[in-house]
Amino acid sequence: MTFVDSHQLSELLCLQLWMVSAIMPTKRNFGTKVSSLSGTVVITCLLLAVAAKEDRGVKLCVTQRQGIKDFSSQNLTQVPSPIPEETQYLDISHNFIYRLNGSSFSGLLQLCFLKATHCGLQELSPSVFDHTPLLKVLNISHNKLPFIPDLSLKHLRVLDLSNNVYSSYRVPESFQDLTHLDLLSLGSPAAVSVGYNDFDPLMNISLHHLILGAGNLWRKYDSGSLAKIRYLQKFSLHTAFCENFRQFENLLVDLNQTQTKSLRFITFVPDDCQVSGNPFKNLRTMTSIRSLTLENTWINSSFMEMFVKNVWLSPLYNLSFVNITYNEDTPDGFQFPAINHSVSLSSITFRGINHYQYRYPTINMSFEVISKLTYLKFSGTGMNILPCKVMSVLPSLETLDLSDNLLSESGFWWPMCSHTSTFPKLQHLSLSKNRFSSLSFISQKMKEMNTVASLDLSFNSIILDGACSWPIQLTQLSLGNNNLGNEVFRYLSSHFERLDLSKTGITVITQEDLSHFPKLTYLRLSSNSIQVIPADLNIPALTSLHVDQNAITSLSKEVFAGLPRLKALKAGNNPFFCSCESYWFVTAFNKSLVLDWPLDYLCSSPPALAGLSLSEYKPTKLSCEAWLQAAVALPAVITVSACLALLFYKCDGIWYTKMLWVWIRMKRRGKQRSNMLTNVSFFYHAFLSYSHQDSDWVDNQLVPSLEGAGFSLCVHERDFVPGEWIIDNIINCVECSYKTLFVLSKHFVQSEWCNYELFFAQHRALSVQRDSLVFILLEPIPADSLPKRFLKLRSLLRQQTYLEWPKDERKQRVFWVNLKSMLHVADKSVVLKEVALSLSDTIPLITDPV
Ligand SMILES: *[C@@H]1O[C@H](CO)[C@@H](O)[C@H](O)[C@H]1NC(C)=O
Ligand SMILES: *[C@@H]1O[C@H](CO)[C@@H](O)[C@H](O)[C@H]1NC(C)=O
Ligand SMILES: *[C@@H]1O[C@H](CO)[C@@H](O)[C@H](O)[C@H]1NC(C)=O
Ligand SMILES: *[C@@H]1O[C@H](CO)[C@@H](O)[C@H](O)[C@H]1NC(C)=O
Ligand SMILES: *[C@@H]1O[C@H](CO)[C@@H](O)[C@H](O)[C@H]1NC(C)=O
Ligand SMILES: *[C@@H]1O[C@H](CO)[C@@H](O)[C@H](O)[C@H]1NC(C)=O
Ligand SMILES: *[C@@H]1O[C@H](CO)[C@@H](O)[C@H](O)[C@H]1NC(C)=O
Repeated sequence: MTFVDSHQLSELLCLQLWMVSAIMPTKRNFGTKVSSLSGTVVITCLLLAVAAKEDRGVKLCVTQRQGIKDFSSQNLTQVPSPIPEETQYLDISHNFIYRLNGSSFSGLLQLCFLKATHCGLQELSPSVFDHTPLLKVLNISHNKLPFIPDLSLKHLRVLDLSNNVYSSYRVPESFQDLTHLDLLSLGSPAAVSVGYNDFDPLMNISLHHLILGAGNLWRKYDSGSLAKIRYLQKFSLHTAFCENFRQFENLLVDLNQTQTKSLRFITFVPDDCQVSGNPFKNLRTMTSIRSLTLENTWINSSFMEMFVKNVWLSPLYNLSFVNITYNEDTPDGFQFPAINHSVSLSSITFRGINHYQYRYPTINMSFEVISKLTYLKFSGTGMNILPCKVMSVLPSLETLDLSDNLLSESGFWWPMCSHTSTFPKLQHLSLSKNRFSSLSFISQKMKEMNTVASLDLSFNSIILDGACSWPIQLTQLSLGNNNLGNEVFRYLSSHFERLDLSKTGITVITQEDLSHFPKLTYLRLSSNSIQVIPADLNIPALTSLHVDQNAITSLSKEVFAGLPRLKALKAGNNPFFCSCESYWFVTAFNKSLVLDWPLDYLCSSPPALAGLSLSEYKPTKLSCEAWLQAAVALPAVITVSACLALLFYKCDGIWYTKMLWVWIRMKRRGKQRSNMLTNVSFFYHAFLSYSHQDSDWVDNQLVPSLEGAGFSLCVHERDFVPGEWIIDNIINCVECSYKTLFVLSKHFVQSEWCNYELFFAQHRALSVQRDSLVFILLEPIPADSLPKRFLKLRSLLRQQTYLEWPKDERKQRVFWVNLKSMLHVADKSVVLKEVALSLSDTIPLITDPV
C-alpha cells in the first residue's frame, strides 16, 4: 500500500499539466469562471475496427437503397403523398406536421423505420399505424404529444417518445402487446413524478433498455415501480435528484431487483445543486451491477470522495465519466484513505473533464486500490505530458487510451520516464488525435514498450521522416488520417497482422508493396484514391479487406484468387462500372462476406445506369460470358436442326426433295433437249416395260393415267409384234419411243431383267444416253441390295433418277405430275406415229460410240 508522497505529488504536477494548454475560461450565468476543454469527444476503438456509428434503424430495416426516403427539414405541413410502396425507412423529422393519421402511411406494408422528431406533433390518430404492421423503429421524440400514445405494434423494437409534453409516465395498457420491444425512451419536462403503477404494462415484455427523463428535476419516485420491469438490463436516467436523494436510493433498490447490469446517469447533479447524504451507498450491495456512467454532471470533490468509496466496495467493473465538471469544494482536494480489500473495478474512462477551478486538482490517494486496473482511458482532457509516475502505479494496465489530447513525441516519451517499467503489461496503446509527427522516432520508442501489440496513431500529423524499425511484438498499427502517400508500405514492419491505412493519400497499391506483409490478416485502405486492386495480389492470410470509398471501378475474380482466406470485404462507395467488368462480382461473389452490401454499391457508369444500385444491375450471364454464349447457342442450333430434321422426316421431306430434284433436272434438261428434239419425232412417248406380276398396277393406274393425259405408250404385252424375238421387239419399241419406262419391282428384277441385260449389252450407248430411261420403283429396291450379277441395274439406279411409287394419295398426285412432265416433249408434234416410223432409223439416241 502506497500513499502519494510529496515526491509523487510533485509528479502530479505533470498530471495537472494536461489541462494547461486547453483551458479556456468561459462565463457562466452565475458569474463564475469555468474552465472547459475544447475539442470534440471521440471514441476510438483500439482494435482498429473503427465502427461507424450508424443509425440502428438502417441496420435493422434497410435492405435496399430505394427503401430509404428522407423528407426531413422540408417545411412540410403534412406527410408527403404518395410515398413509394417499397419504403422501409422514412424520415419526416424537422417539419411542421402536427397530426399523423392512418391514410398518411397506407400501403407502406414494408415500413420498418419511422422518424418524425421535431415536428410539433400533437396528435396521432388511433388508426395511424394500422397499415404499417412491420414497424420496428419508431422515433417520435421532441414533439408536443400531450400523452403517451396507445400503440400495439407487435414487431416494434425501438420506441422513442422522449421530450414530449405529457405530464405522466403512465404507460398505456396497449404496451403489454409490444412483446419485442427492446428499447424504450420516455421523458417530458412536464413529467416530474413516477407513480407506482406507471410501468405495469411493461412487466412481462422483454424490455432490455429503458431511458427515462428529460433533464428536468424529479419530485417524486414511488418506490417499487421500476422493480416490475424484470428483464431490464440497461437503465439510463436523464434527470436530476437535487435534495431528493432518498428517492434515488429507492430507485437503486428497485433496479437491484431487475437484471440491470449497466447504469447511466445524465445530468444527475446540476451545478446549482447540493448533494446531501450518500446517494450511491446502495451501489455496494447491488449484486448484478457491472458498469456505471456519469455524464454531463457537476462533481464536487466532496461528492467524489463519497462516490468513489461506494464504487470501491461495489461489484462495478466499468466506471466512466463523460463530460463532467470537477470542482474542489474540500480544502485539501481529493483525499482518499487506504483500503485493504480487493476492488472489482478494472476499467476507468474519462472523456472530457472540465475544471471548475482555474487551478490544478489536488489528488491524494493510494493508487494501490487501482493497481488492478487493466483499462484506462483519458481522452478529451488536454493532456500534453504523460504523468509517468502516476502511470507506473498501474502495473496491470493492458489498454491505455490517450486519444484526443495534446500529446506529442516529447510529451509522451519525456526523458525521465522509463516506459518499459511503467507499462509492464501494456498491450494496446491509443495515441489517436494528438500531435505526433515522426514515424521513425515512434518506431524507435516503441522498442522500449516491448509488450505493446497494437498502436493507434490515427488522426495525427505523422510524416515519413526516415527509416523505421519496429519491434516484432507490435502487430497492429493504425495510421489512418495521416497524409502519408504511396511510400508508406516501405516504412512498415513485416510482422504486422492488422494495418489501418485509411485516408492516408494512397493512390496506387502493388503486389510488391503488399508482399512485405506475409502475416497480414486485416487491411484497411478505405477513403483513399486507389483505382485498381492489382490482379496479382497474393496475401494468403488476409481475412478482412476494406477498400471502400476509393476510385475502384470493378472487382475482378483474379483479385480474390490471391485472397483465399477472405471472410470480410468492404468495398462500397466506389464508382463502379456497371458492365461485364462487374458481372462476376455482382453475380458470383459470396455476398455474405460483403459487410456493406448492397446499400453502398452504386453504378457510376455508363451514364444510363448511374445511380442504380449494383444489386439491381442484372447483366445476363449470356451477355457477359463468351463460352456460355457458345454453350447455349450450340445446343439450340442442334435442337432446332434436330426438330427440323424430324419434321422433315415425318413429313416425308426426303421423298418430296427427291421429287423436286427430279423435276428440276428435268426442266433444265428439257430446255437443252427441246432444241435437240426439234427435228426429231417419235412413235411413242414411252416404251413401258414391266413384270407380268405388276400388270395390275400398270393396267389400272399407269396406263390409264398416262394415256388419259394424251401420252402414247408402247406396252410390251400389247404392242409387241407377235413372232418376233423378244429382244428385237424390245429394241424396236425402245427405238420408237422418246423414253423407256421401267416399272421396277422385285418381280421385275427377277423375271424380266435378264432380257434387258442382253439389250443393254448390245446397246451400251443407250445406258449412257441421258434421260431416255425412266425407272419407277413400285417397291423399294435399294441399289445395294441387288445381287452382284445385276451390275448394270445397280449402276443405272445410282446414276439415273427414279420415281418411287408412293402409297400416300397426296404424294401420288406429285408422282403423276413428275412422271408426266418427264414424258412431256417440248413440241408435242414430234410424237407422230407415221412420221416416227419413217424416221426411226435416224434417231440419234442410239448411236454406236465405237
Ligand atoms: C423552410 O423555411 C425557411 C424559412 O421560411 C426557409 O429559410 C428554408 O429555406 C425553407 N426550407 C425549405 C427546404 O424549403
Ligand atoms: C430519436 O431521434 C432523436 C433526434 O434525432 C435522437 O437524438 C435520438 O437518439 C433518437 N432515438 C433513438 C432511440 O434512436
Ligand atoms: C440487492 O439484492 C441482493 C440480493 O439479491 C441483496 O442482498 C442486497 O441487499 C440488495 N441491495 C439493495 C441495495 O437493495
Ligand atoms: C459543490 O460545491 C459548491 C461549493 O463549492 C456548492 O455550492 C454546490 O452546491 C456543490 N454541489 C454539489 C452537487 O454538491
Ligand atoms: C457537458 O455537460 C454540460 C453540463 O454539465 C452541458 O451543458 C454540455 O452541453 C455538455 N457537453 C456535451 C458535449 O455534451
Ligand atoms: C484491514 O483489514 C483488517 C482485518 O481484515 C483490519 O483489522 C484492518 O483495520 C483493516 N485496515 C484498514 C485500513 O481498513
Ligand atoms: C458464403 O459465406 C458464408 C460465410 O462464410 C458461408 O456460410 C456460405 O456457405 C457461403 N456461401 C456460398 C454459396 O459459398
